[in-house]
Amino acid sequence: MSPRVQPDPTASTHWDPTLYLKFSDQRLRPALDLLDRVRVESPETIYDLGCGSGNATRMIAQRWPSASVYGVDSSREMLEQAAAKPGKIRWIDADIRAWSPSETADLLYSNATLHWVERHEELFPRLLGYLKPGGCLAVQMPLSWSAPSHRLMRETLANGGAGGKAIGSEQLRQSVARVWVASAEFYYDLLARSVKSVDIWQTEYLQQLEGRDPVLEWVKSTGLRPILDDFDDEERTAYLAEYGRRLRSAYPMRPDGRTLYPFRRLFIIATVY
Ligand SMILES: C[S@@+](CC[C@H](N)C(=O)[O-])C[C@H]1O[C@@H](n2cnc3c(N)ncnc32)[C@H](O)[C@@H]1O
Repeated sequence: MSPRVQPDPTASTHWDPTLYLKFSDQRLRPALDLLDRVRVESPETIYDLGCGSGNATRMIAQRWPSASVYGVDSSREMLEQAAAKPGKIRWIDADIRAWSPSETADLLYSNATLHWVERHEELFPRLLGYLKPGGCLAVQMPLSWSAPSHRLMRETLANGGAGGKAIGSEQLRQSVARVWVASAEFYYDLLARSVKSVDIWQTEYLQQLEGRDPVLEWVKSTGLRPILDDFDDEERTAYLAEYGRRLRSAYPMRPDGRTLYPFRRLFIIATVY
C-alpha cells in the first residue's frame, strides 16, 4: 500500500458528478436555505465558490437575473456538467486556495465546499477582503466530523482489517482525522470583530434515504472520496465491506424501507461594512 494521499485531502480528491447528484434533493435543500437568508440589494457580481455541477449557481442566477454570476470549481468533471446546461453563468476552473476575483463581489456564496479547504483562520478574512462595501459572504459547511458515519469511517481505517488490523496508510489515517470544520463560536469570533453583522445557525436535517446501503452511498460521493482514491482494489473491497456493515448497524433501515440519516450543517452569512 503506497502513501499517496497528500496532507490536504482536497489535493487528490476526484469528484464524480453522477454519484454526487444521486442525492441532489437532499443536497440542494441546505443550499436553498442558505440562499434564502441572503439579503443583498441588486447585486452586480456574484461568485459561487465550489459550484460543483452548478445547481445552486443556477438558483442564484434566477434570483438575480441582472447580476454577473460566476461558478468557480477545481474539478473539470463538475465544471463540464455545469456548463452542459445553457445559460449566461460563467464557469471558472480555479482552486479556491489560490483564487482571487477579477472584480470585487457583492456576494460570495459557498455551499458544502469550504470544509475541503484548510486554514479557515486565513481563508475567511481573505474572502471578506474580496467583497464590496455592504457585500455578503454566505457559507454552508457540514458538521459531520463527530457523526457516527464519519467516526466509523475513521475507526474502520484504524481497526477494520482482518483480525482488527488497520487498513491503508498512516498518512491516510492522519489526513482523514483532520477536523474539517471548527465550532460555530470559532467562526463567530473570527468574523464578528471585522464585519457589520453575522447571521450564524446550525440545522440538523433528518434525511430519509432509500436503498440497501444509503449512508455508504452518500459518503462515497463526498467524505469517503479521499479514502477510496487512495486505496488499491483489495483494500477498497475490504474497507467497503466492513464499513458498510458498521453503517447498517449504526443506521438501521426503518420498517418502510427508508433509512434516517441525521446530518448537521453550519450556516454563516457575514455582511461587511
Ligand atoms: C460537495 S461539492 C458541492 C458542490 C456545490 N456547491 C453544491 O452545493 O452542490 C464540493 C465541490 O467543491 C469543489 N472543491 C473542493 N475543493 C476545492 C478547491 N480547493 N477549489 C475549488 N473547488 C473545490 C469540488 O470540486 C466539488 O465540486
